[in-house]
Amino acid sequence: MAFLDKHKAIERNASLLLVLSFLVVTIGGLVQIVPLFYLQNTIETVEGMRPYTPLELEGRQIYIREGCYVCHSQMIRPMRDEVERYGHYSLAAESMYDHPFQWGSKRTGPDLARVGGKYSDAWHVDHLTNPQAVVPESVMPKYGFLKETALEPTYITDLMAANRLVGVPYTDEAMTNAAADFKTQADPAADATGLAERYGRVTVSNFDGQVQLTEMDALIAYLQVLGTMVDFSTFTPDASR
Ligand code: HEC
Repeated sequence: MAFLDKHKAIERNASLLLVLSFLVVTIGGLVQIVPLFYLQNTIETVEGMRPYTPLELEGRQIYIREGCYVCHSQMIRPMRDEVERYGHYSLAAESMYDHPFQWGSKRTGPDLARVGGKYSDAWHVDHLTNPQAVVPESVMPKYGFLKETALEPTYITDLMAANRLVGVPYTDEAMTNAAADFKTQADPAADATGLAERYGRVTVSNFDGQVQLTEMDALIAYLQVLGTMVDFSTFTPDASR
């Protein structure tokens, strides 16, 4: 066929192949990249999204420090098997306050994007302390030491300032009250009105069940909020985009 003969010419001439491949890749690249400059916003606005509370934000740091992302993703793809197993697919807005995001690329363990509220705090304490006691075939390491590591809000304002610098809308009031909010969330006896005013819906709990505030409290506070900010019983995707 005449068409295939012409293609043969391209295949036999490395320079021509290079030039034509470059052209194709350039056009493909432009088609993908140019529209991004014309869209008002690539992240849909979704009700319910709020910045992490100081305790959750600290828990997120521990999650990153311990490398949980090496085995756990936080991104539910819009495929039927994923949605049936993990719940509604992840929205871009759900990681808008994540710096850096925790989408991950490896699932040795299950996706954690919607693990919040799936288990009790006590379950998490047992599971993190000794995963094999809860799921015998688990290959997850033990993190019981987090219960023994006391946690003080020494650097929490700095951490929030760093997040604010990259666009997380922490108010001045949230910054001034960071240390207090940090402790309040792990203390059901404390007055949590201020915390609720600043952040909205927040779970206050003695997450690790001990008097002392530990890294375990922060990590569980973080795990329990994952995927719970958007109310999917009322959420409708914006079809106009
Ligand atoms: C070596 C890989 C590995 C690492 C690292 C790891 N996990 Fe896991 N995780 C697993 C596996 C496998 C499972 C499934 C079996 C089980 O529940 O233990 C799991 C299960 C879980 C579950 C239950 C999820 C569900 O929906 O049932 C949670 C929550 C969890 N991990 C949190 C963490 C946290 C937090 C860290 C970091 C402190 C962490 N994991 C680190 C492998 C890992």
